[in-house]
Amino acid sequence: MEIKSVGVLGCGLMGSGIAQVAASAGFATVVKEVSPELLDRGFLNIEKSLAKFAEKGTITGDQQKQIRDRLSGTTSFHELAQCDIVIEAIIENLEEKRRTFSELDTICKPETIFASNTSSISITEMMTATSPGRQQRFIGLHFFNPVPIMKLVEVVRTILTDEQIYEVGIEFGKRLGKVPVRAGDKTGFIVNRLLVPYMLDAIRALEEGVGSIVDIDTAMKLGCGYPMGPFTLGDFVGLDTTYYIAEIMFNEFREKRFAPPPLLKRMVLAGLYGRKSGRGFYDYTKDAKNPTPMSLA
Ligand code: CAA
Repeated sequence: MEIKSVGVLGCGLMGSGIAQVAASAGFATVVKEVSPELLDRGFLNIEKSLAKFAEKGTITGDQQKQIRDRLSGTTSFHELAQCDIVIEAIIENLEEKRRTFSELDTICKPETIFASNTSSISITEMMTATSPGRQQRFIGLHFFNPVPIMKLVEVVRTILTDEQIYEVGIEFGKRLGKVPVRAGDKTGFIVNRLLVPYMLDAIRALEEGVGSIVDIDTAMKLGCGYPMGPFTLGDFVGLDTTYYIAEIMFNEFREKRFAPPPLLKRMVLAGLYGRKSGRGFYDYTKDAKNPTPMSLA
């Protein structure tokens, strides 16, 4: 089976990035959102990212226009009916995802492959909301933020995924310009299984007074060559998202290393979500490029 057209559900941070890379790789791409306002916001993100690539000369002005021409937005599920693959990137809520896939199952052609970009919810739990035929055509495609830059995609199979469909998923990842890795349907897959306990441990180290926000970030950046320290990364990913992923992983494995530390919970309750809300471990409100560490005592 050859993939020619791509549907993306959700035009937020991840969905807009996925749509952009699909259109950049030459696929006719349609993105579905719940409102025209959210679509506009997502397309603005795509414009900004394409403009960065054009400024650098990574793409030409003509290519920028061709990519835009391959992209369309909709608020109707029916526009996704003929897509060869639909990638879901809506909110991390199991019931919402199950409802969405169940509805889509009745609308899309039988051959359409369903994929989810979930970072922590079980693919199997979403898959069971669809018909037996579709369940064999259900995979995970987990991308990383910022999607147009990060080279990895985790390709996830369930125990029911058809072997050939899985290989189509791997090839599709390559055609998007990503490096696919194979992962089983275990909560957190490979990256979050290792990344989330690391980020939570950094918060526990801060709580225990091992070092300051800036010193722990600097230590991991310069000591390990990471592009961002754990607190800068947490603010970048979103502390609400990090908390939510940790909760799901803790509920799945019941292991302390996945338990969200009290400080993270307090910050999320207080609305300190990181960059997107203006404040997290750092305050971005005055100068987003040079944020100042928060006093969290
Ligand atoms: N579109 C196009 N270009 C972009 C871009 C985007 N969305 N975002 C960044 N860039 C470009 C910038 O223009 C810049 O280009 P030049 O080097 O040519 O100037 C380049 O990328 C680097 O950007 P910056 O100078 O702004 O900043 P940076 O050097 O710190 O790089 C970064 C930014 C690529 C995000 C880098 O800091 C990084 O790799 N950070 C780690 C990100 C990471 O770990 N992501 C995974 C998070 S976990 C996740 O997503 C999974 C989950 O389930 C939670």
